Amino acid sequence: MDNSEKKHQRRIRYKGTHPKTFEAKYKELQPDKYSETIQKIIGKGMTPAGMHRPICVNEILDFLDVKPGQIGFDATLGYGGHAQEILKLLNDQGHLYAVDQDPIELPKTKERLEKLGFKEELLTINNLNFKDIDLIASVSGKFDFVIADLGVSSMQIDNPERGFSFKTDGPLDLRMNPMVGVSAAERLKEMSKDEIEGMLIENADEPYASEIAAAIVNHLHKGHDITLTSELHQIIIDALKFIRSPKREEEIKKSSQRTFQALRIDINHEYEVLYEFLEKLPEVLKPQGKVAILTFHSGEDRLVKKSFQYYFRNGIYQEVSDGPIRPSMDEQSSNSRARSAKLRWAIKK
Ligand SMILES: C[S@@+](CC[C@H](N)C(=O)[O-])C[C@H]1O[C@@H](n2cnc3c(N)ncnc32)[C@H](O)[C@@H]1O
Repeated sequence: MDNSEKKHQRRIRYKGTHPKTFEAKYKELQPDKYSETIQKIIGKGMTPAGMHRPICVNEILDFLDVKPGQIGFDATLGYGGHAQEILKLLNDQGHLYAVDQDPIELPKTKERLEKLGFKEELLTINNLNFKDIDLIASVSGKFDFVIADLGVSSMQIDNPERGFSFKTDGPLDLRMNPMVGVSAAERLKEMSKDEIEGMLIENADEPYASEIAAAIVNHLHKGHDITLTSELHQIIIDALKFIRSPKREEEIKKSSQRTFQALRIDINHEYEVLYEFLEKLPEVLKPQGKVAILTFHSGEDRLVKKSFQYYFRNGIYQEVSDGPIRPSMDEQSSNSRARSAKLRWAIKK
């Protein structure tokens, strides 16, 4: 057989040495198998994929002073880090009601907490928005304490499928509950240049709001979609090309973070639901009931501060924290996500 007769062999597609999927890429997602890897990552001040490190745990527990027999509400269950510590203090007496609007992470947390021995007699978990705290209170009765740790969890940020970060490519979604509302990609298509600019300023104090809004609208008007996180990131990079080096790279990074934050706040109606929650709090707290809220940006911190001060002035809260409490320097250096956290508390009269 001469060479010309040789059957053409299809080249085997190179699969590469690196795992392609998020699940395969991160060893941390199998904590039983890779506990050493997880400890190394935590040691470097990072958060392992698929996990969330709770912030200001000691400060929150010191303030709440949870006692066995009490009834509490965790408005933002997330990975269950705060809940787990609270459940230990309940010592099999009392009850913790917990909600999270994320239907993807919630079952995993439920299973994890069940495995740790926290069963239905002590813990009730619902897939609900915390703005509906009164629905839970209508079943549980009023609360001795309430905790809310606002924003998104590390699991949500790190999962490219959710579209919360420009650092990995994925669908531009950004919904904490993908079953309700519209994705960020859809939302951008509905907005005018002025609306986008206003959103960037109001939700993230973005200094290049006008340039970024114009670039997004131009892109869409030319008939191009913005369906991926990488596409929105590229539009921001192009819009900010005029910034001179060496500042440019850092400015683009910050503007990208702020743009994703502003969009997330918008499509999850974060200010509206926080406002509703804060309004309902006095009604669902027992006398001497306590509330602790962790915020991660100035917009939400302002809302919490104003609400606490308003009800304090009106004699509904007997005491409120003087100013924001910040995580210790140790916590800030060992967990980069703690750096922007502010804790405020109030005690009902
Ligand atoms: C910072 S994480 C909470 C982490 C948690 N404290 C822990 O220790 O694991 C915020 C969580 O709140 C949830 N969340 C944010 N806004 C919410 C809302 N309006 N209603 C219910 N859950 C909400 C998010 O889905 C996310 O899981």
